[in-house]
Amino acid sequence: MEPRPDDPAIDAQGDRPTSSIPDDVVCLGDLEQLAKEMLSERTWNYVAGGAADEVSLGWNDSAWRELRLAPRVLVDVSAVDTSTQLLGRGLAHPILVAPTAAHRQYHPEGEAATRRGAAAADALAVMSTLGSSPVAELGTAADGPWWFQLYVQADRDFTAQLIADVVAAGAEALVLTVDTPLLGARDRDRRTGGHTVDGLQPPALAGVPPSVALPPNPRPFERIYNPHLDPGLTWETLEWMVDLSPVPVLAKGVLRSDDAQRCVDAGVGGIVVSNHGARNLDTVVPTAQALPAVVHAVDGAVPIVVDGGIRRGTDIAKALILGAAAVMLGRPVIWGLTVAGADGVQWVLDTSWSEFAMAMGLLGAAQVDELTPDLIWR
Ligand SMILES: Cc1cc2nc3c(=O)[nH]c(=O)nc-3n(C[C@H](O)[C@H](O)[C@H](O)COP(=O)(O)O)c2cc1C
Repeated sequence: MEPRPDDPAIDAQGDRPTSSIPDDVVCLGDLEQLAKEMLSERTWNYVAGGAADEVSLGWNDSAWRELRLAPRVLVDVSAVDTSTQLLGRGLAHPILVAPTAAHRQYHPEGEAATRRGAAAADALAVMSTLGSSPVAELGTAADGPWWFQLYVQADRDFTAQLIADVVAAGAEALVLTVDTPLLGARDRDRRTGGHTVDGLQPPALAGVPPSVALPPNPRPFERIYNPHLDPGLTWETLEWMVDLSPVPVLAKGVLRSDDAQRCVDAGVGGIVVSNHGARNLDTVVPTAQALPAVVHAVDGAVPIVVDGGIRRGTDIAKALILGAAAVMLGRPVIWGLTVAGADGVQWVLDTSWSEFAMAMGLLGAAQVDELTPDLIWR
């Protein structure tokens, strides 16, 4: 059976008791180790893995780390203010939850716990099409703001109905993933027997016909396609969505300045600079390196969000220094959800928020708009 995009099976985590975050876990890296011990090898590989040789996976982390900071001194930082605006909404901080699939495999409360944890940390959560909870439940799980990430289906009527449903459920924006017409070489998953178990279907996609019909005896190269992903997605699809959607549409997975410009021309509300956590095309540019050219091309027309390898408050500060309006955390939220459910998600976001505020104070930036390009050593 073909693997589905990012939707491994619920992996017998259901009866695992929720624990709290131990006192000796002080940063996201510590939590990663704990989550690894709690998940099965197969689920761990699914979460941690990147495409092929995982070259870009390493680059995503190191590209942030390698940027050197140049703090300014003797600035009054007695009232560091991390608040910002995104698409007209005030946010306490610029740290968002990235969309990731099937949260019930990490914790029995699944996406509801993620929404609650995000709301408790005053964070905006982006919820995946491949979530393991029905769309209506996403809306009622918590009070905080949320967006919905969309994998458009070849059946456009189905997608139009899904958009109407998620907007009715309260999603304030749609995030169209544009970097995944098909999946990359998930070698880790294949080594541990694949991440798919028969019967798992994302509730948001219930009843939709597959986007790709494989021939009866597909040849190996024809198996690159995935039934939940439409490889025929084009600029026309993005324009169609922008016209149809009553809420802003962001394009997620843009790395090139010309594509970013074209997104703006198509009427997007924002751009997410992302390489899908380095899970698709190996040796793709890390997001810290792609971000500046996209910022330059977009020239303030729409906000830019960035994800990939962001693990420290200093990474968040660097992203904003380079011109991003906000960042998203993918795997770290999963680690928190695994270890302590909603509390763990909140812990990840609160810890990142504290580290970010600390980085701002030490950089001599009391407001986020004081995170200016001169703060990176050149
Ligand atoms: C386990 C996993 C599942 C993911 N599922 C989705 C998904 O359903 N839709 C999507 O647009 N991106 C998905 N992503 C990509 C994330 O949204 C995000 O781009 C990436 O995780 C950011 O990198 P980070 O994990 O290094 O923070 C997934 C990533 C992971 C690790």
